Amino acid sequence: MIDFQDIQTDLLARIAASDQPRTILKTPELREVYAGIRNAEDKAVYGAQVNTLKSALEAAIATREAELTAADIAPIDVTAPMDVNAPIPALLPSERGTTHPLTQEIARVIEIFGRMGFASEESREIDDQYHMFETLNFPKGHPARDDYDTFMTVEKDGDGDPLIAPAHTSTMQNRVMRKYRDQLEAGEAIAAVVPDRVFRNEDLDARHEHTFYQVEGVYVAKGVHAGMLIATLKEFLQEYYGRELQVRVNPFYFPFTEPSFEFALSCPFCGGEDPACKVCSGEGWIELLGCGMVHPNVLRAADIDPNEYTGFAFGCGIDRLVMMKYQIEDIRHLESAKLDFLEQF
Ligand code: PHE
Repeated sequence: MIDFQDIQTDLLARIAASDQPRTILKTPELREVYAGIRNAEDKAVYGAQVNTLKSALEAAIATREAELTAADIAPIDVTAPMDVNAPIPALLPSERGTTHPLTQEIARVIEIFGRMGFASEESREIDDQYHMFETLNFPKGHPARDDYDTFMTVEKDGDGDPLIAPAHTSTMQNRVMRKYRDQLEAGEAIAAVVPDRVFRNEDLDARHEHTFYQVEGVYVAKGVHAGMLIATLKEFLQEYYGRELQVRVNPFYFPFTEPSFEFALSCPFCGGEDPACKVCSGEGWIELLGCGMVHPNVLRAADIDPNEYTGFAFGCGIDRLVMMKYQIEDIRHLESAKLDFLEQF
């Protein structure tokens, strides 16, 4: 014989204490009550008792749900007096946020170049092919356009070409030259760095990411020569790694510089002394960046007369710089959100 009164008292108490009162409708006790109708002597009386019980439960659930909602949206009394001198709870070091290692290192790069007289500019995350190629002396159909594995978007620019995610920070060369061109007439140099994100549609591995950072450097004035380029980069790298370095310059090709170089530095870890060095694989040298003397067509595209002015430019992968500085073995850590990695910086 089922005691409806007992069951009701028990379930009402549970509803009143529950955070999810509606789940009580599914308890085994209640299912037993429903199933009991099969053996009931008087099915009509039994059915009526079940209905009474159900209504009582439904009403209690509605009351409890209203109570919970009210608790959730309890208004904050902003006029209540507060203790302005109450101590702010101290955070444990592990709870404090830090800036991302790349953000810290980009600030360091800007700071070092700043001390050498370079202004700093930001790039953009969507650009056009005019700045990616045209202003850099890659006319339409130039085979070197394919070297850059450029991500295209479905949006078109005014010429009907797809907008792109910039594959190098050199997209900013023309803008920087135009922005600071007046300084040439005033007898000063154009000197700017652009550290920012670039994107390449590449296969990923420990040394290749689809998203990474470069710092572009542009310097234009009267009488600029390759010795100034090499000295500037050497000075920057020695400051950055805090030690004397040897540099090596090999001929290379970029459409926007002539001559073009690939710039290598002696290993900032072993200095070429350790055949088992993980950073340089025992080679003693690390190919780090592309650079060269600004091509006359690039100056012309910025309305600068190449007969009067010359310049140098370089583009250096920041992730590479940082990986070497901290001996990070996999570039993908930098774009991951792994706290145990990030908290070391
Ligand atoms: N933009 C080139 C690259 O990403 C590097 C570079 C910059 C070379 C400036 C020369 C001058 O490969």
